[in-house]
Amino acid sequence: MTSAGGEGPAGEDKDESRRDFLKTAAAISGVLAVAGIASVMKSVVIPSVPGPTQTGFPRVKVSSLGELSTGKVVIFNYPLDNEPNILVKLGQKASGGVGPDGDIVAFSQICQHLGCIWGYVAPGASPSVNPSYVAAQPAGYCPCHGSVYDLSQGAKVIGGPSPRPQPQVQLDVDGSGNIYAVGMGPPAVFGHGTGSSDVSNDLQGGSLVTST
Ligand code: FES
Repeated sequence: MTSAGGEGPAGEDKDESRRDFLKTAAAISGVLAVAGIASVMKSVVIPSVPGPTQTGFPRVKVSSLGELSTGKVVIFNYPLDNEPNILVKLGQKASGGVGPDGDIVAFSQICQHLGCIWGYVAPGASPSVNPSYVAAQPAGYCPCHGSVYDLSQGAKVIGGPSPRPQPQVQLDVDGSGNIYAVGMGPPAVFGHGTGSSDVSNDLQGGSLVTST
């Protein structure tokens, strides 16, 4: 009986031819498979998605010159939509102030001590939580532990336990008197002190919350 693979010299030749054929077929199919993948890869277009730069901040309108008078306060979120800031027209020239009188400033309202929200106290006035304190200058007063910031001097600490001044919001006024938040000065907003200069995770502008 002759096996399917053949026996004798003629059968061996047949087996060898079959093995060669199978090897060649495998090699060709491999080449075709790689070529096919390459072809698919060439046809895939990966879209470039524009995103915030690592050094840029959003430009968000927060008020206008016509809406402000001395002592007027505007609260707005920036650069994240859950991070309040306070803008106030102090009525006296201030460090980093904008507007015709250089007296409009804005700062993060999240206290650098432990994250409470502080409020504005006009010169000669007292915070409701501490009537014995009378502000000698435009001040930010934190109700939690009594930190006091001088808003005419870049919110430097003039009282209480805060270890750092409040981050100042960089403002820009356009030709129509619109006031925009365009960036944040140091230090990092409370809760973002990672030591990194990458602010790409802190770049979502917020909308106006309220004004008084
Ligand atoms: S959280 Fe503001 S003084 Fe402590």
